[in-house]
Amino acid sequence: MAMRIVSGIQPTGNLHLGNYLGAIRNWVRMQDEMPADGECLFFLADLHAITVHNDPVLLAANIREMAATIIACGIDPTRAILFRQAHVPAHTELCWLLNGTARIGWLNRMTQFKEKSGKNREGASVGLFAYPVLQAADVLLYQATHVPVGEDQKQHLELARDIATKFNADTGSDLFTLPEPIIPPAAARIMSLRDGTAKMSKSDPSDASRIALTDDADTIAAKIRKAKSDADALPATVAELADRPEARNLVGIYAALAGVTPDQVLATHAGKGFGAFKPALAELAVETLSPIRARLETFRADPAELDRLLADGAARARTLAAPTLASAYAALGL
Ligand code: TYM
Repeated sequence: MAMRIVSGIQPTGNLHLGNYLGAIRNWVRMQDEMPADGECLFFLADLHAITVHNDPVLLAANIREMAATIIACGIDPTRAILFRQAHVPAHTELCWLLNGTARIGWLNRMTQFKEKSGKNREGASVGLFAYPVLQAADVLLYQATHVPVGEDQKQHLELARDIATKFNADTGSDLFTLPEPIIPPAAARIMSLRDGTAKMSKSDPSDASRIALTDDADTIAAKIRKAKSDADALPATVAELADRPEARNLVGIYAALAGVTPDQVLATHAGKGFGAFKPALAELAVETLSPIRARLETFRADPAELDRLLADGAARARTLAAPTLASAYAALGL
């Protein structure tokens, strides 16, 4: 079967280093290595973004900003299909069909729902609860073979596989392809700069907790300088960082940026304290992110062109989605 890569990102706030190292960099790599008969689809999950408090003006601005950032990271809309989920109604339609297959018990186990709904579960939106079903529709609609994501999305992908398996079994069809998650080993989970036990996230109220791809060199250096660390020197192996979450995170970020393993980072930096390690990390981060930021300036200067690219991507996505959606209706007797 030809390779079909599908992945999405919520257009809420700026793209941060966790998104980049955990997911987007893999999107770019997979796009660049895609054989001629394969297809990459990347989308802004704007329908997922409205499952929590939504500011419509801000969402509209974030959608363009996120599209510009993704292109600046290296996604080429003439090769990959880049679009907004809301522009392809088949996502919502298939989600509804899959709501008949997904079980409440399965959704009750989703850790992201538990985290996002917190203590106020009864006050959370139905959309937040059904969120993983829409995510399943996002990938099953295109017969995705591979889905590049960070570690935090693994559970949602397993759910998509469960839904696909049950739908196929219930309807006696082999309609849906079971998608494989592609999770980068070195950067599967980039943690907050303020707390090595919490993931770096767009929703963290502290801007100092994350490095945004829009941050300038001074801001990046300042955030890394102020990042939580400890007073000990770096050891020679990762195993010795087991009880030092902040140190492990900073070494992990360095490794992901440099494209080496954390043990390789420690082989060169063992014995150094953070006073010496942080400037080296800041330099590497600035070196990686500066060219992206420079390209971003160009793309964000032309919103009409961004809108045109997204509309073009949506038209191509609608064409690819149509046969699977029609088969799903037919399989259910609709
Ligand atoms: P989102 O918008 O939270 O994140 C986008 C991508 O970035 C990864 N990521 C991270 N990776 C490593 N360390 C981190 N700290 C970190 N934070 C985020 C995420 O794993 C993700 O790959 N529900 C999804 C969007 C989505 C989707 C889909 C993804 C909707 N439909 C279908 C794949 C396929 C989300 O909210 O990602």
